[in-house]
Amino acid sequence: MIRLPGLIDPHVHVREPGQTHKEDWDTATQAALAGGVTMILAMPNTKPPIFDASTLDLALDSAKQKARCDYAQFLGAGPDNADTVAALAPKAAGLKMYLDSTFGELRLDDMTLWMPHFQKFPKDYPIVLHAESRTMAAGILFAALYDRPVHIAHVSLKEEILLIKAAKERSIKVTCEVCPHHLFLTAESPSPSGRGDGGEGRLAVRPRLASQQDVDALWENLDVIDCFATDHAPHTLAEKDSENPPPGFPGLETLLPLLLTAVDLGRLTLDDIIQKSVINPRQIFRIPEQPETWVEVDENTTYEIKAAEQFTRCGWTPFEGWKVKGRVRKVVLRGKTAFEDGKILAEQGYGRNVR
Ligand code: DOR
Ligand code: ZN
Repeated sequence: MIRLPGLIDPHVHVREPGQTHKEDWDTATQAALAGGVTMILAMPNTKPPIFDASTLDLALDSAKQKARCDYAQFLGAGPDNADTVAALAPKAAGLKMYLDSTFGELRLDDMTLWMPHFQKFPKDYPIVLHAESRTMAAGILFAALYDRPVHIAHVSLKEEILLIKAAKERSIKVTCEVCPHHLFLTAESPSPSGRGDGGEGRLAVRPRLASQQDVDALWENLDVIDCFATDHAPHTLAEKDSENPPPGFPGLETLLPLLLTAVDLGRLTLDDIIQKSVINPRQIFRIPEQPETWVEVDENTTYEIKAAEQFTRCGWTPFEGWKVKGRVRKVVLRGKTAFEDGKILAEQGYGRNVR
């Protein structure tokens, strides 16, 4: 049995308010605990999006009633809310800016719309960018111009990780995260829906699954990667198998088993997991330590990932049938056993807002 600190997932789509048929604060935090994650940072592309005081209250009220693990909520950057979100910064995980198209309404196309956010959002709280490829280069230029930290979400391409490496070498204040699906799947991976095209249906995700060369570049540049993040983005099977499949995968329950399997194969160390899933996210997002909080893992148990055993409401996983080594046995959160042997023991409302 190994003991790890509780993991922090800095990128989770909880779907409440507005799309609780996909997930809500109850099921998302159950999935988190089952995966050894004791704190989630929730993304703002809900319905409505979280972009002012009243929508922030809407999300935080639900979280307060339902969350079983600790959390904080991101604000979303819109075309005219830079003053509003800057004032709300102390109550939020940070600011999320959607600079490329993805699921939801929040998107800032024009760079003049980025400027007020970079000017006004307090520098001690991170701005998280959904910015792919050349948009990412523009985002990193903004970090340099405004001399403030940015955190790049879900890096997936070789050109991106090399750009971030170069920016770090120039002391530009940039950090980044990588998702398990971009480390373990490629555009050629067989689709669990049987379509096999990797571009539609269940394997639709933003950023898209990339080439083997891109995946290899991420593994070769592990030292440039600050955090692991799931980008847990649940959509129901009916939605994923529809004519117009929304992008996104659930990921909270498969993160740690996949990482532990990589440790078993010698591709990662336990220290890498602790650094990138606890220490770095805590520092980047200025999160207080969770006292008396740990995860017990049976590192020798091999098992098969099955959607039927998961707590997420979306009912599927892109890793169905994968054999992994390392099972989460027990999670203790602030002195209380929150998960043990497949059972969620923390009650709704036990989770705390860390802001
Ligand atoms: O695949 C994705 N799904 N990428 C995103 O950026 C958003 C997410 C979602 O909210 O479904
Ligand atoms: Zn996301």
